[in-house]
Amino acid sequence: MLNFEFKNPTKIFFGKGEIAKISKEIPQDARILMIYGSGSIKTNGIYEQVKQTLKDYDLFEFGGIPANPEYEVLVKALQDIKENKITYLLAVGGGSVIDGVKFLSAAANYEGEPWEILKKPIRTLEGKGMPFGTILTLPATGSEMNSGYVISRRETREKLSSGGPGLFPQFSVLDPEVVKSIPKKQIANGIADAYTHVLEQYMTFPSSADLQERIAESILISLQETAPKVMAENFDYDAAGNFMWCCTMALNGLIQKGVITDWAVHAMGHELTAYYGIDHARTLAVIAPSHYRYNFENKKEKLAQYAERVWKITEGNTEQKAEAAIRKMEEFFHSLHIQTRLSDYTDDYLNTAERVEKAFTERNWIGLGEHKKLTPQDAYKIVEMSY
Ligand code: NZQ
Ligand code: ZN
Repeated sequence: MLNFEFKNPTKIFFGKGEIAKISKEIPQDARILMIYGSGSIKTNGIYEQVKQTLKDYDLFEFGGIPANPEYEVLVKALQDIKENKITYLLAVGGGSVIDGVKFLSAAANYEGEPWEILKKPIRTLEGKGMPFGTILTLPATGSEMNSGYVISRRETREKLSSGGPGLFPQFSVLDPEVVKSIPKKQIANGIADAYTHVLEQYMTFPSSADLQERIAESILISLQETAPKVMAENFDYDAAGNFMWCCTMALNGLIQKGVITDWAVHAMGHELTAYYGIDHARTLAVIAPSHYRYNFENKKEKLAQYAERVWKITEGNTEQKAEAAIRKMEEFFHSLHIQTRLSDYTDDYLNTAERVEKAFTERNWIGLGEHKKLTPQDAYKIVEMSY
């Protein structure tokens, strides 16, 4: 097991009605900016609950953060923060709203052009971001308990990430009741995103970090078992809770400690969202099978372990098990009505591989993957395989 440091300071409030507790977490004299998306919280009762809980505070609002949070919109929120002398941020939404708030937390105390924080990128050190909390409305990204974020800039077709230890939420509320109003398409996205988060930290080569490996496999199995229950018509509170906690645990730092991780699927997937606006999770389902097939020799032992422990495949040699595992993963995405080829999402896919190669070359991204050996030319071939 590799050496590691682990500190995750986010306090979790899990369960029905827990939103009511947040006022105890925010200083009484705070000037709060509540930030949300395109309005789902106004129709499912979450907005009213937050307003009621924070009725004794100086509370300001900024709505309209779009999916794949847009830099231009966030810059307007930044102006509001400065004009209203805001001291505390509250994200009420999914990964997009939470990521947007992390960027605002970093930018609020940054002197230069805010885009530099993403372009360079600049990490936000402990104590340097504006304090914030989150009320999660869509289980998927794990952003509610980690310190990373991803921002899009449509003008330049860029989707860039940044983060730092100063950007953990102070608290996050995980109330499974919010799952009731989520469209099935978004639930499927959430499952696929969390599932791929585990794979990115697991699908490398067998490690000696037994506990991390077993926790990762448990999250994968739990997501597989929970998926049909949360995709069913009737709301199942316990299934929603398991789904939510799996998503948080998939990317709160725990399973990546002491092991080598990959993350190349996300790097390529972000490019597909930047060009075509394809939902984040769906880009991962497009890239992951090609990535694992292209890197089969390096990953086959771990793929076979995944086949045995997660899918209970006992027949065949290492290669056969590994191939069966990739097919099982694809079938799992399909069971969520998520397609796994780029041509399922756009007709204009033919020069995507070239675009990704060019973007990675411009950003000097040499050394993706667990062995840090994948080049922009490898990315070209992987993306081409996903057509
Ligand atoms: O805009 P609102 O009204 O909030 O509606 C949203 C949005 O239309 C809707 N929704 C959310 N909660 C709902 C709901 N609708 C009904 N009922 C509810 N309770 O769902 C739609 C999608 O929301 P969004 O926040 O965009 O989805 P998600 O949570 O999947 O976030 C995606 C973003 O997170 C980034 C992605 O790249 C993408 O930009 N990621 C962030 C990560 C992180 N910070 O650690 C890691 C991930 O890998 C990912 O890259
Ligand atoms: Zn993701």
